[in-house]
Parts: sequence; structure tokens; C-alpha cells
Amino acid sequence: MRIGMGMKGIWMAGALLACASVTGAQAASISHEEAHRRAEALLKQMTVEEKVGQMNQSSGITMPGLGGEKPDALITQGKVGSVLWLTDVKEINRLQHLAVERSRLHIPILFGFDVIHGYRTIFPVPLAMASSWDPTVEEAAQHLAGQDARAAGIQWTFTPMVDIARDARWGRMVEGAGEDPYLGAAMARAQVRGFQGAELGPDSVLACVKHYAGYGAADGGRDYDSSYVPEDLLRNVYLVPFHAAEEAGAGSFMSAYMDLNDVPATGNHWLLTEVLRDEWGFKGFVVSDAFAVASLQTHGYASDPQDAAYKAVTAGLNMDMASLTFTHNLPALVKSGKVTDAQLDAAVLPILEAKYELGLFDQPYVDESKVDATLSRPEGLALERRIAGRSMVLLKNSHRTLPLSATLNKIAVIGPLADSTKDIEGGWTVEGLFGGASKNHPVTVLAGLKAKLGAQAQVSVVPGPALSRVYPSMLDTMTGNKPLPQPTAAETADWVAKAKAAAQQADVVVAVMGEGANMSGEAASRATLDLPGIQLQMLEAAVETGKPVVLVLENGRPVDLRWAEEHVAAILEAWYPGTEGGNAVADVLFGDVNPGGKLPVSWPRSAGQEPLYYNHNLTHEPEDRPEFTSRYWDLSSKPLYPFGYGLSYTSFKFTNLKLANKSIKTGEATEVQVDVTNTGKAAGDAVAQLYIHQRAGSASRPVRQLKGFERLSLKPGETQTLKFTLGKHELSFWSPQTKVWAVEPGVFDVWAGEDSTASLHTELTVTE
Ligand code: BGC
Repeated sequence: MRIGMGMKGIWMAGALLACASVTGAQAASISHEEAHRRAEALLKQMTVEEKVGQMNQSSGITMPGLGGEKPDALITQGKVGSVLWLTDVKEINRLQHLAVERSRLHIPILFGFDVIHGYRTIFPVPLAMASSWDPTVEEAAQHLAGQDARAAGIQWTFTPMVDIARDARWGRMVEGAGEDPYLGAAMARAQVRGFQGAELGPDSVLACVKHYAGYGAADGGRDYDSSYVPEDLLRNVYLVPFHAAEEAGAGSFMSAYMDLNDVPATGNHWLLTEVLRDEWGFKGFVVSDAFAVASLQTHGYASDPQDAAYKAVTAGLNMDMASLTFTHNLPALVKSGKVTDAQLDAAVLPILEAKYELGLFDQPYVDESKVDATLSRPEGLALERRIAGRSMVLLKNSHRTLPLSATLNKIAVIGPLADSTKDIEGGWTVEGLFGGASKNHPVTVLAGLKAKLGAQAQVSVVPGPALSRVYPSMLDTMTGNKPLPQPTAAETADWVAKAKAAAQQADVVVAVMGEGANMSGEAASRATLDLPGIQLQMLEAAVETGKPVVLVLENGRPVDLRWAEEHVAAILEAWYPGTEGGNAVADVLFGDVNPGGKLPVSWPRSAGQEPLYYNHNLTHEPEDRPEFTSRYWDLSSKPLYPFGYGLSYTSFKFTNLKLANKSIKTGEATEVQVDVTNTGKAAGDAVAQLYIHQRAGSASRPVRQLKGFERLSLKPGETQTLKFTLGKHELSFWSPQTKVWAVEPGVFDVWAGEDSTASLHTELTVTE
């Protein structure tokens, strides 16, 4: 991909400048070599227990399921290397004082937290940011999030989540960049740069690439379930964003929960050592997912906790998140010689190095007086609103229903998400994570519309019943939230009638619907993709009035839109757009922002199609042939909206797709160029997408693969020529027959256009 283009570069520079160093850290960065030297010297002074202590990450809070006791006693004994799930800065400082002043070697604690899409200013969920198809958006958001986190005492974030998600039933699709390895790799690199900066230092946050690896391929889309992924699919798809993040310098990885090809990832030597360290040369450390060392026994892989500790550490795991299995078992394993001193030292060293590089030994404490001012910086909210606007995807816009007129004065806003502050930011909001009060005051869609329309507009609101769910989510369970009862038939009829009456009185209806934020994320898979509750009935009632209905979606995965696609006038996918989300939705609905986001996933018609992804292989009888084809008896196998799809208030044309060289040798590269013209009347953003297909080779290759993209802004009538490269990086693949990465001679189809169904085509021949 071409990077650093004119306008985009300026946009990014402005965003980053706005949030330059806020921690005011005085200490200078030290080189990795110096950190290594100091870590080695420290290691020589440490007892076995102290070394194992660095490999233990303790829960910073006491809560059922997260840890029963405060870690104070372990900290003073030098048995805690890291603490997680703690955001109270006073408590962070208190624990740090214990470690630095009361433990024998004064080694500071590394505080880790899930700063996934913002700290107090919450950016759109990762799936939304990937929909921007603009890595500078991810980088700017994560840079600001990292600065906020560091100012609040968090030096390590469990981000980026780079799991490929090909199945919308899987609840964690919302946390990643979708189904594509090329787009996923670009977003992974951007996030690592955003958090860590050019190098780790006293002003940056250590990134943690998760969940290594294959977690998104869970059987049936059920979270935690086993994944069976052949090595070529792992290497060509699932591992690609992990490798990209590693190459971008990510300092830590997190092992996944599930069995990968029958070996749990947390005890998987092939993943943690052979691929990550031996092949890729990773020098950082790997933490398990929470309690995953203990659950090696649950999986039926380890016979007892000591066996679990042994299998994890010898597979290449450095740190045990929350289960204390290393603390209780590793010292004995070392003393008996089953785990060697050299193995133990190799596991501890990168943890200490990271602490030196992050400047923790020089500046272990948080300046409590500065935290609130940093987290409330207004430039964060301005950046959030811009990023949210860039992340939305216009799925339908019949009869130019959108943009809405600014003079509109009667509007009906319906749906349970219209004014829900707890849903608009999505999951993983730091300050609201464990049921604590969020200090964000997020702007709902209703509030955003009112602010845009002004006081003279008549806005009627019919929320309908709050979204209920059959099972409570994991966080609901931990915080004691009970699932809500389903509405009765009488309540349903009443809400539906109210929605209809409000629609009848209005010039336009905005339906804000989708899924509650707790319906996606961890342990939140779904067997159906229906709009939950009575939302569809309310939508049908509004449409029946004949008034234009605009559906604004807040959701963490594609939902079943077959009815809506046929009947509502316009559909805007807002995902969970974050703190300023409601304002950003209003910006798009009224045309102050022209939507340019594109889908990072194929949008299924129904859950029965899952897993569904555009980069599949050709079948024995592809679907477009007349008979005996690959399709369902009762449904097309094509998506409702293809990967890469999204509309704009203007239109674009792609022409003149040309290769600099129509034939190249296997070691060579060629430039590809294409002209993109704005053929409509409004300025807008196009995302140029480049796809390839290798026609024959030592293995069947996907029908299409994304190999380049660029988001660009064009004025009406303007044309830009984009250049991409096709060379070794883009043309090679790991063959299950040859077991190597190689470019194979043959013919490649090349397409450029607006989504994965682009038809503008040329051919590239690669010779020996
Ligand atoms: C999740 C991880 C997360 C960790 C720490 C686990 O349950 O799978 O994604 O980083 O908890 O909160």
C-alpha cells in the first residue's frame, strides 16, 4: 500500500500533534541493548522465587472470578511482576510503593489493562476503526489512548486483538479488524505504532498482540471452542496480522484460550517457540490469557497444576495471567531440575527488559494530580468524532434519502439504542468495565440529532423495551446484572403501536437498532444474527406508514438485514461509534461528513451461511453454474453485502488499470496503476482496493485476495492516479505441498475497484 499521501499525512500529523506527550515524562528512552545489559545484571541477583515472581501477573482487584485476595503480601515478597484489572490510580501507586520500597530488589510492577479502543475518550470499536480502511485512524486513536493510559498508570495494554474473524456468530469479531489478513495486518501495525511509538520509552505503552493464534476459528463460532486450522491456512491467513505486528516491533504477545489442532495455544511449543521466536525472531515476552495456564488442566492437556506450569513454560510462555499456577508450581520444577535455570532466565529476561525500556525503574509512580486533566483533554473528543465519522459504512441509500435536510423539523427516533449511553461506546470501556461509573458522558444518537437540529425541531422518541438477553454475559455475571425478562405480548403490541404513531406524525424516522453492547465480545457468541427483541416489529410498523425510515445500526457483528435491505430507505452501519458517536452519526446523516467506510467483513444473509468470507477457494462447481452448484437449497451462498462494500453520497469510477510490466520473473515486482474519478456532485472518499487471484499452482488459491488499498478524498470531477506494487510480498504464499513461501510462475488475475466484486481487470504473467 502507498502510505504518507498528501492530505492523509496532514490529517494524521494534526491528530498526533494534538496529543503529543502528555505524561510529561522526564526520563529518556534507553536502547534495547542497555535494557538487556541491566536486566541481565539484575537477574544475577534474583532468587528462583523472585524470578518466578516476575512471571506472575496478579489481579489488582478482588472480585468473584478475578482473584480473591489483594496481592499485597505477594508483592512485598517479590512475587508479583505485573498487576492487571486495576485503574484506580491511588491503588496503583500504593501497590507500586509496596513493590519499589518493600520488596527486596525494588523491582517495579508493570500495570496492564485492556485499553482496547480508548481510555476515557472511547473511540469506535476496533471493527469500526477497521471499517475506515485508514490505518492512520487506528494509529491516531491508539496513540491518544496510550498517552491517556500511561498518564493514568497503565504501561501495558492487551491490544491489538488481531484475530481473523470469518464467522459473525463469534462474539469477539467486534474486537478485531475483520476477516482479511492484508487489512488486518495494516491495522495491527498501525496499532503497535500508535501505542509504542517509534520505540518503547517512558512515554509509550507496551502493546500485546492477541490472541495467539487461531482463536477466531472456534468451532461453530462458539467462543473458547477448539480451532482446527491447517498449517497453510494458519500461515496464509490467521498468522499474517500477528507476524505483521511482530515485525512492527510489538513487545508482547498473549496466548489464546483454545485448543489449536488439539494442543492448547498456551502450551503450544510450535506456536510459542518454533514460529514466534525461532522463525520470526520475536524478542519480547508472552503472557497467557487470563487463567489459561490453569485451564491447561481443564482442557485435558495437563494432568495437574504442576504439569500445567511445566507444559506452559517449556512451550515458551513467560507470564501467567491471574491463575498463580507458576507461583505455586514453578519453583519446585526448577529446584527439581525439570525446568532448567537457563529456561527460567530466558523466560524472565524479556519481562525485565520491557520494564527498563518503559522507564519504570526511573519513574514508577503516577502523578495523581495530572490524571484527570489529561483524560479530559477536549482534543481527544474532537479526534474521536472525526474518527467515528470516518468509520461508518453506508449500506443502503435509496432515492437519495440521505443526507437529510437541515431544515427537517419533525423526526421520530425509535429503537432501544436511540438514547442508550451504555451501548454507544461498545464493550471494553475502561472506566465502565466492572460496572463502575463511566466518566465519559457519551453522546447518544438522540442527543446528537437534537444538537444538530436545534431547539425548534420536534423530536418524538419511542425506545421500545430495553434489549434483553437469554443468558447474562460474562461481565454481567461478574457484576451481578440479571438478564431482563422478555416483553409480554401486550407490552410488545403497545410499543409497536407507539412506534407507528410516532412515525405517522414525522417527516422522517430514524431507527437506532442493533445489539446491546454486551451481546458481542468475550463469551458472547450468538446462534442467530436476528435483530434481537421486538426491534424488527417496531421497524416494520414504522415502514408501514410509508414515511422514509433510516436505520442506524449499533452492533458488534453483522446482523440479519434481509428484511431491512428490502424495505427501509437507508441503512447506516455505525457499529459502536464511541464517546462522540451520536454527534458523528448526526454529521453523517445530515451530510456534514460524507461516509467513506467499507465493510471489513462479508455481510451474511443469515447465520446459516457462516463461516462466510470472500477469499475462499473455487469449488468443484462454483455457484454461478446452472446445476449441482455450491449453494444452499434455500438461500444463496453469496453475502448480502460483499467484503469491502460501502456507499457514499457521491459516486466513483475506476478506469485505466495498467501494469508497468505485464510479465515479470518470480523475484521481480511490477507497479500497478489505476485512475479513480469522483463522478458525482459531492466531495467524498473512495477506497481503492486491489485484488489478485493466482489461476493455478502447487495449491488451489482463493478466488480473490486483497493486496493493496488506499483511502483517498476526491472533489467532484477530480481524478487521481493510484500506484500499487505487486511483488514478492503480494504474490507469494505458503504452499502445503512445498512447505515454503514462494512466488510460483503462472498467470494472475488483477482487479481494482470499490469492493471485492470489482470488475476492472488485467492479467499479470509470472515466469521462472
Ligand atoms: C480476554 C483477553 C483479555 C484478558 C484480560 C481475557 O478474558 O480473553 O482478551 O485481555 O481477559 O482482561
